[in-house]
Amino acid sequence: MSVRVAVVGTGRMGAAMAGRLRAQGVPVTVFNRTAERAAAVAARTGADLAPSARAAATAAEVVLVSLADDAAVEAAYTGDDGLVAGLRAGTVVADTSTVDPRTALRLGDLVRDAGGAHLDAPVSGSVPVVERGELTVLAGGDAADLDRARPVLDRLAARVVHVGPAGAGATIKLAVNGIVHALNQALSEALVLAEASGVDRATAYDVFAASVVGGPFVQYKRAAFVDPENASAAFTLDLVGKDLDLLLALAGRGGVPVRQAEVNRAAVAAASAAGFGDRDMSAVAAHLRQLRS
Ligand SMILES: NC(=O)c1ccc[n+]([C@@H]2O[C@H](COP(=O)([O-])OP(=O)(O)OC[C@H]3O[C@@H](n4cnc5c(N)ncnc54)[C@H](OP(=O)(O)O)[C@@H]3O)[C@@H](O)[C@H]2O)c1
Repeated sequence: MSVRVAVVGTGRMGAAMAGRLRAQGVPVTVFNRTAERAAAVAARTGADLAPSARAAATAAEVVLVSLADDAAVEAAYTGDDGLVAGLRAGTVVADTSTVDPRTALRLGDLVRDAGGAHLDAPVSGSVPVVERGELTVLAGGDAADLDRARPVLDRLAARVVHVGPAGAGATIKLAVNGIVHALNQALSEALVLAEASGVDRATAYDVFAASVVGGPFVQYKRAAFVDPENASAAFTLDLVGKDLDLLLALAGRGGVPVRQAEVNRAAVAAASAAGFGDRDMSAVAAHLRQLRS
């Protein structure tokens, strides 16, 4: 594939995306706010390094964005060195960050005003899922624009779902993550409950994994839950908190009662306050163990 891809944001997910695309022979240019992080990805994968989001966008036909939150995407899109300033006519920006749907709409307008196309394209699945090319992409925007980005997204994803118009991808992502974070909380509680009652941790986990609830999340989180001391963070608790804040705000605007999400948000806030914010989301279980002792 000769289409050049820019990856703006080489955090956990962006770095994995750049690595997966390079492994498939796709030309990639990377940019990250902390330059050393992008330089390490470039050295490891053979991607080119851009000095700004603007330069990365200028180099590419498809721009993938993977940034932490609304403030991060705002910073990367706007200003003299922002990606919008570097867009060429027809460049497609597929933003995989989990952000407020209103932010996705606003930044999409900026991209279209500059002659580009924009998709809110958040993803379901974590780092190992990217590495296997098995993400689910939840895209909002114009179907024809999505078709232009598909050859790139198909390298990263087992499924690319066109959810609806601009903002629909960002919206459904928050709904999906409400379920993921509820499952994470329930799994943590069940595991610590079983342990506290004398059942071996790995045995308990394997029973959950073999039961009716043993879907993909439970399967790929085994190492993180069973051997937390040796697990690296795939998705931090601080980002879980961000997701739940966005979900609660969306629910508030729609007048939808989401009591479970409120409880889960409080549990994550307590874990972050206890120092677990930069740990993997499975550290909810570690926090529960700490509360017991
Ligand atoms: N990890 C997962 O399993 C997963 C799964 C699905 C979706 N997501 C979503 O994907 C996105 C990236 O997640 P991640 O786990 O890769 O996060 P991460 O490892 O924490 O990386 C965050 C990225 O955002 C950048 N950033 C943060 N604040 C910024 C700012 N103010 N200005 C510019 N750049 C800023 C960081 O740059 P620096 O290096 O300079 O800090 C880094 O590139 C998030 O929206 C997350 O919710 C993650």
